[in-house]
Amino acid sequence: MKILVINGPNLNMLGIREPGIYGDRSFAALEKFIKDSAAELNIEVSLFQSNHEGEIVDVIQSAYGVFDGIVINPAAYTHTSVAILDALKAVGLPTVEVHLSDINSREEFRRFSYVSLAAKKTICGMGFDGYREALEYFC
Ligand code: DQA
Repeated sequence: MKILVINGPNLNMLGIREPGIYGDRSFAALEKFIKDSAAELNIEVSLFQSNHEGEIVDVIQSAYGVFDGIVINPAAYTHTSVAILDALKAVGLPTVEVHLSDINSREEFRRFSYVSLAAKKTICGMGFDGYREALEYFC
């Protein structure tokens, strides 16, 4: 099984960025955690991170016919991007949405997720473990 894992803007700043919310582990540590989890679950994983909405749309489109599913943390685009929602609907791949923090217990504007409208499941507030749970969903 081949799963594409997409991380959105500012997640590359993990470890530096608001450690009280996102923890003190780096983005490299997150990527290693995802790769190790995938190997244990016998999943072939491909990792992509971008700070640019259009690049995320492009990578979702290019997943069509190549991957069996998508795990996505759209970061701030969660709450703004109809383009990412439409791309996910266009390819129709099963998608699990992940957030490190609990978006429901933060500012009001984080409570709405466009991506949730296309996701089979949303996991939030579990830190790195949320990505493992997302991969387990596909098993
Ligand atoms: C986030 C939550 C978003 O609201 C925020 O904009 C992020 C990260 C999370 O993983 O908790 O950048 O997606």
